[in-house]
Amino acid sequence: MRFLLLLTLSLTGYLVGAEAADSRPPDKLTATSETKPAGAQSGENNLLGLPPVPIPVNNPQTPAKIALGDKLFHDARFSIDGTVSCSKCHNEQHAFTDGLQFSIGHHGLTGTRNAPTVINAAFYHSQFWDGREPDLEGQSKQPLINPVEHGLANHQPILDIIRKDSDYLSAFKTVFGVSDKQVSIDHVAKAIASFERTLVSGNSPFDRYYFKHETAAMTDAQVRGFGLFTNQGRCVSCHVIEQDQAVFSDSRFHNIGIGINQIQQDVPRLAAAFLEAKNKGGDVDKMVLTDKKSSELGRFAVTGELSQIGAFKTPTLRNIAITAPYMHDGSLKTLKEVIIHYNNGGATKAGDTINPYLSGGIRPLNLTEPQIDDLAAFLEALTSPQYAKQTSAPPINPAAAEGAKP
Ligand code: HEC
Ligand code: HEC
Repeated sequence: MRFLLLLTLSLTGYLVGAEAADSRPPDKLTATSETKPAGAQSGENNLLGLPPVPIPVNNPQTPAKIALGDKLFHDARFSIDGTVSCSKCHNEQHAFTDGLQFSIGHHGLTGTRNAPTVINAAFYHSQFWDGREPDLEGQSKQPLINPVEHGLANHQPILDIIRKDSDYLSAFKTVFGVSDKQVSIDHVAKAIASFERTLVSGNSPFDRYYFKHETAAMTDAQVRGFGLFTNQGRCVSCHVIEQDQAVFSDSRFHNIGIGINQIQQDVPRLAAAFLEAKNKGGDVDKMVLTDKKSSELGRFAVTGELSQIGAFKTPTLRNIAITAPYMHDGSLKTLKEVIIHYNNGGATKAGDTINPYLSGGIRPLNLTEPQIDDLAAFLEALTSPQYAKQTSAPPINPAAAEGAKP
């Protein structure tokens, strides 16, 4: 996994593929650029800077399906205590995140990972921090039956609610042509995924600067920060910017030195125990979200490859200024802390142990204090206009969150 870099990436921004740890080609996907984001401003430029939204051939977008998915996404009845909907942790008031280090599910239970935004998740080649689900359809079935999220034992209670709800029944009939007993969890998953494929947003100051050549769209500090992002900071090697669009993710998995130090001494034993439990039928979704140490194994939990210990999917950086805290374990509170971690070569505090599985792409950057500020300013230029008035959700205490309306 050697990393060849320092091709001088100029402002014309070409991309370097970093280590090819793993990536899943979007084989069964077709693309459309016509999807209109729900609740987005009507401006025709909302998708500026984004590629076409990949739409699976077996789940085409329709307005009725999107509306159904929206409703399902917000329905807290689909949980063991009636308080947890998807939007509890992916709250549109806070760029579809919850502002917490670890999300809180039913009865105030916490998981092990930070809730990523759902905005632009449609562009990833796999879902979850470790990519354990190939697509949004597969992803959406998991939290419903995860013991620390919606907490249902299986999907049956959801189907029971739907079958007693005439509004749902007529919607499923219209959308999928199915009635009553024919409604399955796969229909539910397809509708939710269709809704999520409308949660796409570009047109940030960066997009206007870079793709529309509006030189005034970014401040001087942001322009300097952009230069650092593509050159000295080497951020662009994983947080990809292409010539005509930018998802800010390579959809690959890298160990950048987050969380892994907590299990460092114990990796061989933990890794072996995890594989054994998995081979005995253990469910990865439940294992990683209920056990902190298993969570830190990262992509290894999915592939069993030692080189992927502590590796996580490169997240998009769009709307990053309003989705704190950061990283799979929510351990970094500010963008400055993130940049300092990279500047130290993959150590949150200078002098921390560097883990043996660290990506070859992570090296000390020698950024000065003003350069760190410029890079942070650039990341603030990635907020889309419809979220510009939002802030990261204020941390809430678990007691208050329990039973709170999503
Ligand atoms: C209790 C909080 C909680 C609830 C409820 C919840 N999620 Fe999540 N969501 C998370 C966390 C935490 C993760 C990251 C887990 C991981 O990667 O292992 C996540 C990951 C995701 C991802 C992957 C995004 C990415 O960057 O890979 C999507 C999409 C998503 N959730 C959608 C949903 C949907 C749809 C529902 C409802 C069916 C839902 N979530 C319910 C907390 C929650
Ligand atoms: C080798 C690939 C790689 C490089 C280079 C890289 N990143 Fe990342 N970045 C990642 C991965 C992987 C994660 C998630 C890691 C985790 O949670 O353990 C991440 C996470 C982040 C996050 C937090 C995102 C979130 O939603 O929590 C920010 C912000 C970020 N990177 C900014 C940068 C900046 C700025 C640079 C350049 C100084 C950079 N990255 C360089 C791969 C990379």
